[in-house]
Amino acid sequence: MVSFLIAYASWSGNTEEVAEIVEETLLSEGMDVAVHRIGIGPMPDPRQFAALVLGSFTWDKGATPEEVKDFVADIGYKPRNVYVFGTGDTQFGGEDLFCHAAVKLARFYESAIAPLKIEQSPRGTQEKKVIEWSKGVVQHWQHLHALKY
Ligand SMILES: Cc1cc2nc3c(=O)[nH]c(=O)nc-3n(C[C@H](O)[C@H](O)[C@H](O)COP(=O)(O)O)c2cc1C
Repeated sequence: MVSFLIAYASWSGNTEEVAEIVEETLLSEGMDVAVHRIGIGPMPDPRQFAALVLGSFTWDKGATPEEVKDFVADIGYKPRNVYVFGTGDTQFGGEDLFCHAAVKLARFYESAIAPLKIEQSPRGTQEKKVIEWSKGVVQHWQHLHALKY
């Protein structure tokens, strides 16, 4: 079975909620999923997974949280097939800084699909957006790995 690693950082729970919806959707699409909360427990090895789905909130004027930077450094190489989601709040600098950590991470990993940006909690109207994005991740991965005859 194809196994995806979801690794996310969350302080107040919003990014964790997105991670949960991503997990549910990947499972419903037939993927195997492992979830790692960044900064807690042993460091997973992305090499053991088909893809890394990385989630981060944004901090301090568009900054990436230190634990996420450490996680990226600890991986020690740049995995392919990285998909990024983030939560943020437009009141902290408008569209320019909204979910800026997710945008920077997606650029760093040269992610093939645009990062998902969620304003605060995904529950309610934004839940559909998370589900659609997660399905897009699976479709992209499947397209990339389709057998070529
Ligand atoms: C001090 C502070 C600074 C923040 N700076 C930004 C920011 O620059 N850009 C942004 O989109 N969100 C910013 N946020 C909003 C958080 O990213 C948002 O609340 C996020 O959903 C928190 O994620 P978590 O609940 O998973 O910890 C900031 C929040 C705080 C408290």
